[in-house]
Amino acid sequence: MKKSQRISTAIAAMCAAAVMNAGQIKIETNGISMILESESGHTLDLCYFGEKLMNTTEFAHAWHITQPDTGDAYGLQLYPAYGGRFFLNPALKLTHADGVITTELVYESHEQTVIDDNRTATVIRLRDKIYDAHVDLHFLAYNDENVITQSVVFRHNETGNVLVENIASSYITLKARNYYLTHFHGTWAREMQLSEERLTPGVKVIESKKGVRTTQSDNSAFLVSLDEPAQEYSGEIYAGALAWTGNYKMQFEVDEAGLLHIVGGINPFASAVSVAAGEEFATPEMILTYSNCGRSSISHNLHDWTRKYNIAHGNEERPIVLNSWEGAYFDFDEDVITGMIDDAAEFGIEMFVLDDGWFGNKYPRNADNAGLGDWQVNKKKLPHGISYLADYAVSKGLKFGIWMEPEMVNPDSELAHRHPEWIVQSGERDMLPMRNQLLLDLTNPEVQDFVFNAFDGVLNMSPNISYVKWDANRHADNVGSTYLAQNEQNRFWHDYINGLYSVYKRIRAKYPDITIQLCSSGGGRLDFGALKYHDEFWTSDNTNALDRLYIQYGTNIFFPAIATAAHVSTSPNHQTGMMLPLKFRFDVAMMGRLGMEMQPGQLEGAERTFAIEAIKLYKELRPTIQFGDLYRLNSPYDNDGYCSNMYVSKNRGEAVVFAFSTIYHNRTQSYGIKLHGLDPNRHYLLKEVNTMPGDKTYAGDGKVYSGEFLMKAGLSLPLDNAFSSMVFHLVEQ
Ligand code: DGJ
Repeated sequence: MKKSQRISTAIAAMCAAAVMNAGQIKIETNGISMILESESGHTLDLCYFGEKLMNTTEFAHAWHITQPDTGDAYGLQLYPAYGGRFFLNPALKLTHADGVITTELVYESHEQTVIDDNRTATVIRLRDKIYDAHVDLHFLAYNDENVITQSVVFRHNETGNVLVENIASSYITLKARNYYLTHFHGTWAREMQLSEERLTPGVKVIESKKGVRTTQSDNSAFLVSLDEPAQEYSGEIYAGALAWTGNYKMQFEVDEAGLLHIVGGINPFASAVSVAAGEEFATPEMILTYSNCGRSSISHNLHDWTRKYNIAHGNEERPIVLNSWEGAYFDFDEDVITGMIDDAAEFGIEMFVLDDGWFGNKYPRNADNAGLGDWQVNKKKLPHGISYLADYAVSKGLKFGIWMEPEMVNPDSELAHRHPEWIVQSGERDMLPMRNQLLLDLTNPEVQDFVFNAFDGVLNMSPNISYVKWDANRHADNVGSTYLAQNEQNRFWHDYINGLYSVYKRIRAKYPDITIQLCSSGGGRLDFGALKYHDEFWTSDNTNALDRLYIQYGTNIFFPAIATAAHVSTSPNHQTGMMLPLKFRFDVAMMGRLGMEMQPGQLEGAERTFAIEAIKLYKELRPTIQFGDLYRLNSPYDNDGYCSNMYVSKNRGEAVVFAFSTIYHNRTQSYGIKLHGLDPNRHYLLKEVNTMPGDKTYAGDGKVYSGEFLMKAGLSLPLDNAFSSMVFHLVEQ
């Protein structure tokens, strides 16, 4: 072939490729490609989602399927509605104004906007083939964090209302030999328990219908590992979590061709919403990430993304907290609290938080059966008010925080008598108390104002309040609203959460600097939707260090250490009765945001000295733990009686290693762990830290090792006894 012929053939091929890919849409980060394809009037299809591609042109029609009986070729719709040839669980189910129950979505247009050098927004507009009904898919791709978020907006101009029966935030299709699903189930004091299973043909569902404490059954966060169970440092893993504080449903459907379809979003259960012409219905965001090198990168992606984009003050170190709950419960007066503040100051603690029990006068809050809703200081217990305590804490060099549960009301409260219509209720049915309390109806704007004003009023008690613990100790049942119209009761689940978010937004607009803890009977409300407005979460009411190893392990796969409130409590533990060494309790709590949940003054002698030194040490290790990368070395779920994690600073100059033994091993066995994340070419001084006085046990203490040695040979630890633990600080030389 002559040169000129070769050139024209090449140009023809390029033009053909360009034409073929005219409808290709790329949603990409530094490490992920999601390739879509569309043409006006045709479906929007997924061609590829996974490791970043070098060249996407060949991927056009990559997943086209030809139907054997009709010979029709069709793609895998990115956002399938119930209608047309679609026969699996759909992303969207509508009943149109004229009663037609099917929808067929086709591509209309799309636009991409570079927001800054890390983020690109994509909006893809779909519409029904026949009806004036529209679905906009919104994506935001975060380059460095390898996170893609997706949400959906529905609107229409039909002549009458459209019933939205199901509207997912995302729909992902994967193709592999096998799929392993990891999800996180639990209950009160046993949150975020990891469970992994191979998906078989059919549908596996994870959902919540509890409305407020969504994580008390399962969390919406999930991992899907391809072909083999999820590994820490190898293998392809997809992760998702719904940024929504209400009911959700995640469906994992393995179809007859062996493809996995993951549909996730608001739970359609009892939630069909009637949308008027011109009105919009928006879904929450699904947070998605992917790794081709195992679970640890999934955590790095999500932790980095959370700190940068989805938590308050993600770049600021968290203070060490003494929370009054387990030390005093409801049983305190001014002297008890000032005594705790004195102790906290002596221990080097930086924030004192006054928990439940400080409010209510006509119905004093001396137990959990009265006072909720009456946010005035209890004059009998605290005659000099909150400002006295806050000033006292500040005079001792501490910050001051306070507990609230503003969404709730006790029947024995002035609020319940004043506004019975503000309580969630289902017609004439009994209201069903839980922990002696009822839920306020946040669908009602007057209740939203009340909650905002309650928060505002408490903060106005003293300019020295710098932290609020926002609790929520029940979920929603017998739901309904006196505010919503009779034919709108199904909006409850959705409007409650949007009402809550609108209060959060008002609070954050007025109080951008306040630290707010997300708490719901412990970790009952843990999701990226609420976390965005908070600084941290109370991980669990279970402060028993052994249980915390499991709870924090599951939690920290998605949520970072900086947000994981982890408090040292007394022994025997109040929830479990278990007795554990103080060192073990501190070592576990130091893997998160350290705090104490006891009377520190109870610690005496060597234990007191140890605790004071541990707090001092945590301040030194804190930047690495709170801002570094988490590497899991050994899971408590491995059932070998060991557990180990390490944190490595972003510049790889420092690391902190934690190792635990939870059973008796034997004296001839040592615990071998190979470290991760270090620079093989650098050298690190290894120091065993956080030891009881005179108790250093590691022979390698004070020696310098190369990163290569530490990662290839590792450490051999003399951890034989049950509930023994070791901590190492590595500093580059
Ligand atoms: C549940 C929380 O998780 C506890 O820490 C404590 O604040 C109590 N509520 C107070 O009622």
